[in-house]
Amino acid sequence: MLLLATPSLLQLTYCSAACIAGYWLYWQSTTGRRHRQFVKKHGCRPARKVKNRDPVLGLDAVFAMWRWSDQHILFEKTSQKFFGSGAKTVEFAFLTANVILTCEGENIKSVLSQNFRAFGIANTPSELELLLRGGIFLNEGEAWHQSRELIRPSFARSQVADLDMLEKHVNTLIDGIPRDGSTVDLSTLFSQLTLSTAIEFLFGENSDEEDSAADKVSNHAFTEVWDRVSRYLANAGEGEHGKLWIYNYLLDRIRMNPQYRRDCSTIHHYVDKLVEKSLSSKQLESLSTSTTKPRYVFVHELVSQTTDKVRIRNESLSVLFAARDTTAGLLTNVWFELSKRPDIWTRLRNEIDTLNGNKPNYEELKNLKYLRAVLNESQRLYPIIPAGGRKAKEDVALPVGGGEDGRSPVFVRKGQFVLFGIHAMHRRKDLYGEDADIFRPERWLDTEEKRGLRMGWEYLPFSGGPRVCPGQNFALTEASYVTIRLIQSFPGRLESRDPEPWRELITFIVSNLGGCKVGLFPRESEANPDKGERARLKGGFELAIKMPSPILGAGCNGS
Ligand code: HEM
Repeated sequence: MLLLATPSLLQLTYCSAACIAGYWLYWQSTTGRRHRQFVKKHGCRPARKVKNRDPVLGLDAVFAMWRWSDQHILFEKTSQKFFGSGAKTVEFAFLTANVILTCEGENIKSVLSQNFRAFGIANTPSELELLLRGGIFLNEGEAWHQSRELIRPSFARSQVADLDMLEKHVNTLIDGIPRDGSTVDLSTLFSQLTLSTAIEFLFGENSDEEDSAADKVSNHAFTEVWDRVSRYLANAGEGEHGKLWIYNYLLDRIRMNPQYRRDCSTIHHYVDKLVEKSLSSKQLESLSTSTTKPRYVFVHELVSQTTDKVRIRNESLSVLFAARDTTAGLLTNVWFELSKRPDIWTRLRNEIDTLNGNKPNYEELKNLKYLRAVLNESQRLYPIIPAGGRKAKEDVALPVGGGEDGRSPVFVRKGQFVLFGIHAMHRRKDLYGEDADIFRPERWLDTEEKRGLRMGWEYLPFSGGPRVCPGQNFALTEASYVTIRLIQSFPGRLESRDPEPWRELITFIVSNLGGCKVGLFPRESEANPDKGERARLKGGFELAIKMPSPILGAGCNGS
């Protein structure tokens, strides 16, 4: 009896097929119908499909990307693979998702600005959630709006233009550079500088003398942990993942790496301490009795709006996260290129010479057109964040990219990802000219015959729309000021000490794999081999002592 009641394999097959067909019919008459109506109403046509050998999961593309990432050519190769045919918007299978990738400014504008509400931030990995949960970076909707309002005053022009604050930190950086032309990796010094300026910007003055030995150790540990966390988040491979990358990746999916958890706690603890210190009665008192207009301090403003310490930490950590590596990466890329191009270096030095060796004020800094062109060109060719993306919260249309000529709207269904190929867009020959792959700052300058480039949504180093980077002015002011003061201190010569070309180092950002190994020379008459060593040992900022030395060949503590 029991055997007779058991369904046969054939019956099971029919039953499953009927269920699938039923679901398909249901889907077609509800969601499918809605999609068709949308497509018809907006005149959408499909974007060009990138053919994968594995048309279902696109595993060939996934493995190719892993390989390119290992070879430090991920963005170069993906740009070729996806846009090599001339299409500016394409669709491809990536694991279980069907992704739209575009390097069309009009489409990016539509996602980030015109249709802002129709898109949310792409899926956030749980690792990033653990680190930055509750801050502006990961917040959406009303919570994001509140975060944005909260930080807005920090980026007011007067605040950004606080060059005196920068000068102190730049002096420490300059003290860390040998004056006899020995090789130094500027990227390490830039990271130290941008961390210390971001900390001062967020938490107020952090006097070195006041810091106990324990604080200094914890500053050092923080920097190490921070670097490890950045690499971990980017799955950069070396160190934490090494050759066991895939094994660790799978393990992490099941149970988040315990070391990473510990690192996040260390960072949270460190920032909690900074917040406490900043809010200590001493600092608040000195602010209230000060006769001069007090500087805006990020966490002081936060505390006037919320007493939730975790919220204060999350917001300030998010801004710290956004500020440090990005600006250091920009400076690294700029100085790497300067070291390879004496022609550009000389022209820039001549422009900076017009300041007669004086510190520039904000207006003077902004008037250095060639310097601005160098920064623009660096961000064009080596965007610090070379890709971005959003996930559709509802059915929506991109304005262009569909059909044979790519001029029809493209349908994006709810839940679909739209990725932006910023790297590819910044190298488009139809926008930037036949020499788009070459570093040529002059393209940004007006001449008698020709206006320099004025780009809109086709140039997006800082993203755009309501979530545009609020720190862009801060970053450009800082990068400009550091470059000016460095050139004023070492106007003699700049030598590259790295035979390699620029290669991708992908962490949370993308900068040069080899860092920025150079030799700098003051004018001959000023050369004093002792000064660099003396100054370096003096070490104005504690991290300069404790961090691995940027001076190649020197010991770990810089001595
Ligand atoms: C060269 C330096 C920098 C670059 C290239 C850069 C680039 C960007 C980009 C592309 C975004 C958008 C990310 C996205 O939408 O997924 C962003 C967001 C952000 N940036 Fe920057 N950034 C730089 C420096 C800074 C600095 C110095 C600060 C703060 C002092 C900062 C604070 C932020 C914040 C808070 C956000 C999140 C904004 C929001 O979600 O509303 N950035 N940045």
